[in-house]
Amino acid sequence: MAKFYKNSMVLCFWVVIVFVISSASAFTRLKKFDHLTKGDGTLNFLVIGDWGRRGAFNQSLVADQMAKVGEKLNIDFVLSTGDNFYDNGLTGIHDSNFVESFTNVYTAQSLQKKWYSVLGNHDYRGNVKAQLSPYLRKIDSRWVCLRSFIVNAEIAEIFMVDTTPFMEYYFSEPKDHTYDWRGVIPPKAYSANVLKQLEKALSESTAKWKIVLGHHAIRSVGHHGDTQVLVDRFLPMLRAYDVDFYMNGHDHCLEHISDTESPMQFLVSGAGSKAWRGDLKGLNRKDVHFFHDGQGFMSVQLTPTEAEIKYYDVSGSVIHRWNRSKLLHSAI
Ligand SMILES: *[C@@H]1O[C@H](CO)[C@@H](O)[C@H](O)[C@H]1NC(C)=O
Ligand SMILES: *[C@@H]1O[C@H](CO)[C@@H](O)[C@H](O)[C@H]1NC(C)=O
Ligand SMILES: [Zn+2]
Repeated sequence: MAKFYKNSMVLCFWVVIVFVISSASAFTRLKKFDHLTKGDGTLNFLVIGDWGRRGAFNQSLVADQMAKVGEKLNIDFVLSTGDNFYDNGLTGIHDSNFVESFTNVYTAQSLQKKWYSVLGNHDYRGNVKAQLSPYLRKIDSRWVCLRSFIVNAEIAEIFMVDTTPFMEYYFSEPKDHTYDWRGVIPPKAYSANVLKQLEKALSESTAKWKIVLGHHAIRSVGHHGDTQVLVDRFLPMLRAYDVDFYMNGHDHCLEHISDTESPMQFLVSGAGSKAWRGDLKGLNRKDVHFFHDGQGFMSVQLTPTEAEIKYYDVSGSVIHRWNRSKLLHSAI
């Protein structure tokens, strides 16, 4: 009896140790997806945000143009900056909004690629666990949505970050909205951990291009403007680790803004269907290169030494383009 007791104590001890070790590593590392690229040293992808409205409000028109550009550039994948399903995320894994706003809208062959997605504030108003559920991949295998994770695409590493829990006012002043905060409570501890994981991943990255993507803007002249909490908490870190681009949605427009203290560029693509807010602030800021108050999306073409960014409107016209050479960049 005494021996049995002792053995089960030993077993318990090891179970606890294994549990502590595995939860500690889950605590400090972001999940990484290795995306196999075409192998020719290039990487092309589209970026879209704020889109899921069952094809309405020009969502389908934007999808048609994405299809053409996606084919022309032979894209590797699509990135979504969040607010994937309006108005209130998904109600559950069987919510028809998933198929009606995603599967049935982005039907073109060229868009049958992985869609790496973060959550936006509207997604938090639904059943968050449903939108994050791997079950959705059984319905549409393109869908990859996690809170914070990494897409490793050889020449580029893309750090997808869950920014909504950083915004304290969603917690303190939810207005008429109900948010599903399961998994992010308490938000202070959650966001501190996200930053810790991001810093660790950035510090370990050897990718030629480092891209951080979240739902909320760091810099924007759209409706919501700059997000002070992200300016305070993310910007110094992104500068310190030589991040090339910060991409986001949330403001329903397309924007290109330069950082004033580093070569980093802020690229806003939140115009997948919602647009035309008509309110913008500080357009005369000299760091602002481009602002479009209408629907559209963005393409990114990378080689080991060159980046080309293009913005398209609802009719597919290129309305802004910008190039960077890494050789020049490192010589600055
Ligand atoms: C759709 O796009 C057209 C063309 O740019 C624009 O005139 C129209 O207002 C847009 N519709 C909506 C609902 O935004
Ligand atoms: C950007 O680079 C591409 C490929 O190197 C080139 O074809 C294009 O003309 C460049 N665009 C600008 C605006 O410099
Ligand atoms: Zn939003």
